[in-house]
Amino acid sequence: MADHRIQIAPSILSADFTRLGDQVAEAEKAGADCIHIDVMDGQFVQPITFGPIIAQAIRPRVSIPLEIHMMTLQPEDHIAQLKEACVNRIIVHVEACPHVHAVVQQIKDAGIEAGVAVNPGTALSAAEEVLPDLDQLLVMTVNPGFGGQSFLPSVLPKIKRARQMIDALGQSITLEVDGGINATTASCAVNAGATLLVAGSAVFTSKASVADAMLTLRQAIEAPTCSVDD
Ligand code: DX5
Ligand code: ZN
Repeated sequence: MADHRIQIAPSILSADFTRLGDQVAEAEKAGADCIHIDVMDGQFVQPITFGPIIAQAIRPRVSIPLEIHMMTLQPEDHIAQLKEACVNRIIVHVEACPHVHAVVQQIKDAGIEAGVAVNPGTALSAAEEVLPDLDQLLVMTVNPGFGGQSFLPSVLPKIKRARQMIDALGQSITLEVDGGINATTASCAVNAGATLLVAGSAVFTSKASVADAMLTLRQAIEAPTCSVDD
């Protein structure tokens, strides 16, 4: 059971783009801890979404941090523009960065928090050497590229191992999960040790309002049991 405050990061991938500013403002009002922005390049993952200009556009609409999930090759090419957009955190994929240590240093040198993401099929050891340099570790609970996919319960043991690795280091590194987080799966991720949950469709395409959807997630996080087998 995690003893950390659990944070929620709504992902705008599932938002209504015709009213994006209002949607992020609603999410902040409903208690979102940061806004998660999924940048996809059509190469590392098949879809193309948006880039730094969207971060720049929503920056004035919220005061909570913006985190950029870079599902792109050569994410380092965009650090300067993301710095101009005043983002707070950049997460790069270990699978997309042959020189991940150097990229993490570039992000930190720009004065931005650095995170590394690992796909479901990637061993945690791929991020282990760079872990002491990170502000955040993102364990993907779906294969990246699309919102609305089902949480992969087989990743739960990896989340638990990631929690042990972070605790053993004794540093304050946020353990984030992304993909398929909803009222059923949130407590599983939290029980495994995650402290930051990304939620896209559960927040923005729920039949309920953003406020009610966030409340449902918050209540689920408090739930003591996980009904999903790993
Ligand atoms: C998927 C993205 C996620 C996505 C999550 O590749 O990284 O952030 O928005 O969407 P849900 O919460 O619907 O699984
Ligand atoms: Zn994401």
